[in-house]
Amino acid sequence: MYSEKVMDHFMNPRNMGEIENPDGVGMVGNPVCGDMMKIMLKIEKDVIIDVKFKTFGCGAAIATSSMATELVKGRTLEEALEVSNKAVAEALDGLPPVKMHCSVLAEDGVRAAINDYLVKNGRPGLELKESGHEHDHHKEDH
Ligand code: FES
Repeated sequence: MYSEKVMDHFMNPRNMGEIENPDGVGMVGNPVCGDMMKIMLKIEKDVIIDVKFKTFGCGAAIATSSMATELVKGRTLEEALEVSNKAVAEALDGLPPVKMHCSVLAEDGVRAAINDYLVKNGRPGLELKESGHEHDHHKEDH
């Protein structure tokens, strides 16, 4: 039921762990299952030079976080904010529909960590959504 890429990122997660003195930290919970995600960012001149995650999530959450961290590493903050949970799932060759909610954890975590960085630096924060489920900042193609 899981693609090979999902299994690979689950068995060998990239960027799992902690960053010492991170520039931005995002801690979010998944409203669907209650699982948690922590994303830590090292940022230089608005470029994400390092990223690590820790999660109390399921296998799909681990795989999507691993892929999401790979996709945002080396990117500008703006580019990183464009990486949607849908793009992460696509990069993993898809997720079973019942597990799509797990991929939201990584995206929300990255957004929260970027927001933390911006606010700490006296810059306008992002509009973070309350429930973590209305992803209206992405235009979904129909
Ligand atoms: Fe909670 Fe997957 S079941 S993150």
